[in-house]
Amino acid sequence: PTNHLQVEGSCNIWRADCRAKGGSPGFKVAILGAAGGIGQPLAMLMKMNPLVSILHLYDVVNSPGVTSDISHMDTGAVVRGFLGQQQLEDALTGMDLVVIPAGVPRKPGMTRDDLFNINAGIVKTLCEGIAKCCPNAIVNVISNPVNSTVPIAAEVFKKAGTFDPERLLGVTMLDVVRANTFVAEVLGLDPREVNVPVVGGHAGVTILPLLSQVKPPCSFTQEEIEYLTSRIQNGGTEVVEAKAGAGSATLSMAYAAVKFADACLRGLRGDAGVVECAFVSSQVTELPFFASKVRLGRNGVEEIYALGPLNAHERVGLEKAKKELASSIEKGVSFVGK
Ligand code: NAI
Repeated sequence: PTNHLQVEGSCNIWRADCRAKGGSPGFKVAILGAAGGIGQPLAMLMKMNPLVSILHLYDVVNSPGVTSDISHMDTGAVVRGFLGQQQLEDALTGMDLVVIPAGVPRKPGMTRDDLFNINAGIVKTLCEGIAKCCPNAIVNVISNPVNSTVPIAAEVFKKAGTFDPERLLGVTMLDVVRANTFVAEVLGLDPREVNVPVVGGHAGVTILPLLSQVKPPCSFTQEEIEYLTSRIQNGGTEVVEAKAGAGSATLSMAYAAVKFADACLRGLRGDAGVVECAFVSSQVTELPFFASKVRLGRNGVEEIYALGPLNAHERVGLEKAKKELASSIEKGVSFVGK
């Protein structure tokens, strides 16, 4: 007997628990904050991912309902729910990948940094659990401000002696997803054919789309560059304002989070050539963390790519991004140091 919300195993004539325990192929994934605006559609999409064999849904509220609901989907993953701090360790034990969308979202007029006071403590507590129960898991941090919450996670893991820079990734995929969409609109292409590297971080001017490196190769007018850079940097705010107090991006974020988690899982499986942008511990610049293209493999981040040639506009953007990033990173580091 276990104390988690045993949706699939509440009757002892069922064999699902055996399937979960015994060698069904696939990875074990936990979502922390699974009942939230991002967490719910993220849980649904992860339940549809054939690489996932076990899906743990943890939250401090409402996880039983979400778990019951998701568990009725006739896809492979076995779903288990966990409610409240006392079940965090059970939620994390044995996980290969932990995705963290826990924490408060922005309201109109707020920056991501305004979320720091609440979300820093949430991410710290959750990472202490990860260090204790699944120190080898790949960790995807979605909770904002990502530019500070990833350094917080790193400091927690360092204190616990479990820090592995290859396994900690801040999720900036939504910036790439938005960039692909907006650039495709301007070029009149299918967004699926477009790939825009977005580097730096995940807030305002730290979001630096490299429009000179768009695939397929193309050129933009100065007006297009300014429109696209501004729209990509302010995409999150566009959604916050449209939702008018009801939160920030959740559906596109869940889509981006699953796209990114799937890339991490394909890397873990040993697929070759899995490359995505992420905010990671990095030596690409003089800053200790930076988002850029990374190759994902069996150990997590196996290679971090240099930024490549930047044009004059991008070089100016890079300096602005680094200045803001430096203080956001420092804020995260000193939060745990306290
Ligand atoms: P939400 O408020 O709808 O959901 C957050 C969930 O976290 C709630 O269910 C809440 O109960 C849960 N939670 C709070 N404290 C917790 C704890 N200690 N342990 C576990 N769960 C806890 O918020 P939403 O819209 O899902 O956003 C979540 C976070 O994601 C926010 O910080 C938001 O800023 C961030 N975000 C990040 C993006 C990115 O690109 N990285 C994009 C959009 C949002």
